[in-house]
Amino acid sequence: MDAPRNDATRPLYDHLERLLFTEAEIKARLVEMGAQITAEYEDRRQLTIVTILQGGMLFMADLIREIHLPMKVDSISVSSYHGGTESSGTITFNENRLPDLKDRHVIVLDDILDTGHTLHAITNRFRDECNPLSVKSCVLLSKKVDRAEKIEADFYGFEVENEFVVGYGLDYNGEYRNLPEIGVLKPEFYTHEA
Ligand code: XMP
Repeated sequence: MDAPRNDATRPLYDHLERLLFTEAEIKARLVEMGAQITAEYEDRRQLTIVTILQGGMLFMADLIREIHLPMKVDSISVSSYHGGTESSGTITFNENRLPDLKDRHVIVLDDILDTGHTLHAITNRFRDECNPLSVKSCVLLSKKVDRAEKIEADFYGFEVENEFVVGYGLDYNGEYRNLPEIGVLKPEFYTHEA
């Protein structure tokens, strides 16, 4: 396990119950995922990767450099948590604009698949309104839960238990996104919302 950095983020590590994935483990898994996606899409052109902001931004930045194909990248911003740790079940699209996905093979990236509301809403909207050639989904983390929506990611990095995780783009109330590792947040740092 990498030692936490000796900088001002150090106290944030005290908020973690335990580390789940180090920077090196994430990087190694992204190399494998990139190879899998490269192999699957190498005969197709017109690949567009759409990341879900803000959680998916680090994941996209690192994964696309492991996919050795021509591609376009885009993003979409939605809200579902409204500051807490439970999905509200209502996905709010924060902008009216949808990416231009006409005649593109699309992979939607998110940091984590939990209830499935987010991926379900976005992939359906893309299929219904954007005329893509295909739409698949890719998440770094897949939570082991009974999902509200019948959806699984076509590509995923790691499975995690039903715990609230932060780091590597994942936040609680906007914080922890810049931790290079992923860890379980101690409940005492969010139970005040209950
Ligand atoms: P759903 O429930 O729609 O969730 O599949 C996907 C979105 O919810 C957020 N999410 C989390 N964020 N730690 C986080 O920081 C978690 O453990 C967690 N679980 C879900 C995330 O924004 C994701 O896009």
